[in-house]
Amino acid sequence: MAYEAMSFDHLLGMPGLSDTLLKNHFTLYQGYVTNTNKALETLDRMQKEGRADSMEYQEVKRHLGWEFDGMRVHEYYFSNLGGSGNPDEASDLKAFIGDQFGSYEAWEMDFRATGSVRGIGWAILYQDTLSGRLLNFWINEHDKGHPAGCTPILVMDAWEHAYMLDYGIKRAGYIDAFFRNINWPQAQTRVNFQLARMAQPGAR
Ligand SMILES: [Fe+2]
Repeated sequence: MAYEAMSFDHLLGMPGLSDTLLKNHFTLYQGYVTNTNKALETLDRMQKEGRADSMEYQEVKRHLGWEFDGMRVHEYYFSNLGGSGNPDEASDLKAFIGDQFGSYEAWEMDFRATGSVRGIGWAILYQDTLSGRLLNFWINEHDKGHPAGCTPILVMDAWEHAYMLDYGIKRAGYIDAFFRNINWPQAQTRVNFQLARMAQPGAR
């Protein structure tokens, strides 16, 4: 069954990110979906043709992670935008972040620093599904380096196409805009709070 591109048109009009930038970004995302389907179809066809031991098959196999991860991280990213930017003071996720990082503010400082790493990539807050704890990671190109067994909770695209049209090389302005538009209720749906209890201080 083919993957279908999700619509994120409801994000148009967000403060701090122009419609032109967002529409270009949606088109890039749709390209990942198209190419994920193409790669999967090609692999399936080559397997049926008995060509699974060919160099061509192996190259498409290597390339699949690039297209699939590009599709999926953009879906996490766009889905965790479109909100008010302010986590509800009483939200379980805000409390969990505070427990894990000392305070919500300490987490935000670290996430902003993570997103400011020089080069292209992603800042991602993950939950480790074995220990339950939260971790901020910098991911370079998205087909490599994701921490095994961790669930993305909050994803920020830090590739130049995510901000240069509006902010030039001033990534800090883009990070401010990202924070103004975080959809915290959506991010909270990604957290396993049963596991989170294991990770809280005193519960180990
Ligand atoms: Fe992107």
